[in-house]
Amino acid sequence: MASITLRNIIKRYGHGPKANPVIHGVNAEIHDGEFVVIVGPSGCGKSTLLRMVAGLEEITGGTISIGERVVNNLEPAQRDIAMVFQNYALYPHMSVFDNMAYGLKIASVPRDEIKTRVDKAAKILELGHLLERKPRELSGGQRQRVAMGRAIVRQPQVFLFDEPLSNLDAKLRAQTRIEIQKLHRELGITSLFVTHDQVEAMTLAQRMIVMNAGNMEQFGTPEEVYHTPASIFVASFIGSPPMNLLRHAPNSKPGTILGIRPEHLDITATGWEVRVDTVELLGAERLVYATMGGDHLIVRIDEGSASPQAGDTIHITPRADRLHWFDAQSGKRL
Ligand SMILES: Nc1ncnc2c1ncn2[C@@H]1O[C@H](COP(=O)(O)OP(=O)(O)O)[C@@H](O)[C@H]1O
Ligand SMILES: [Mg+2]
Repeated sequence: MASITLRNIIKRYGHGPKANPVIHGVNAEIHDGEFVVIVGPSGCGKSTLLRMVAGLEEITGGTISIGERVVNNLEPAQRDIAMVFQNYALYPHMSVFDNMAYGLKIASVPRDEIKTRVDKAAKILELGHLLERKPRELSGGQRQRVAMGRAIVRQPQVFLFDEPLSNLDAKLRAQTRIEIQKLHRELGITSLFVTHDQVEAMTLAQRMIVMNAGNMEQFGTPEEVYHTPASIFVASFIGSPPMNLLRHAPNSKPGTILGIRPEHLDITATGWEVRVDTVELLGAERLVYATMGGDHLIVRIDEGSASPQAGDTIHITPRADRLHWFDAQSGKRL
């Protein structure tokens, strides 16, 4: 196993005046055995960053180390990594066993050793009874597990995942998430996992890197990112519905934006006066959409509590220890 160190990583696609700068200097230290998720909207540079770690993309500036080794100039095969993609192409004519064994055969691993490793991976992934099947005889989730099995049998120092769950339906995604966590608990292999889905990031990550337009906005535990977002971007990207961002909150200083999550506002007898625009029932909770001065905001209340109606004027109170202040200019947390 190994740590991964990113030092001032820069990436530009192309050269000269037409060069497209994509990653603008990322620094991060991923500990040995840690599960780190890179999360951010589409196009922010997640795959580029991961592919530079994998050796599939040239590094324009900075250094990437895996363990003690700087890997900038190493071929992917020399980096001791295994990657799982969204589009995991299995060989259709090969059995599950052969799909998992293929990379090891190519690497001339002895036959007995291959069988031991494939059987072990199959056991972990609960694929033991499917080893003779062809990919077309498997469900989407089972195919995804075979793709993970292929990575596991390599016994790499590092796992790299690029949105491996995106092609699965919601239920299967949730199941596979649990399997990936279990896998990490059992194998303890340092993992970098890319997703655009903040729920996936929050549930899988030991720590998460939040990316925005080629910059790392924050690197922290899910709790840290949720409770003390470093910027307006992080505040609005993590959490659903997103944090309310108020420019005209009562008593706020000019040039500041007040952030308060929908779950940290309570309907009270007195307090901020807001007008209710609409109310949504979402099973166990209700979302009250309201307007206060020039600001729109959402209040999350229990399904069981009395619901206001559209058009009502109500009072709300923010929980004093849950306020977030941001600089309107820089977007940074104050
Ligand atoms: N081969 C390439 N050539 C030029 N630009 C690219 C290339 N690959 C990705 N990009 C650009 O780099 C940016 C980041 O892409 P990517 O890392 O794929 O984002 P993400 O994985 O976060 O969706 C995007 O603007 C994308 O258009
Ligand atoms: Mg991508």
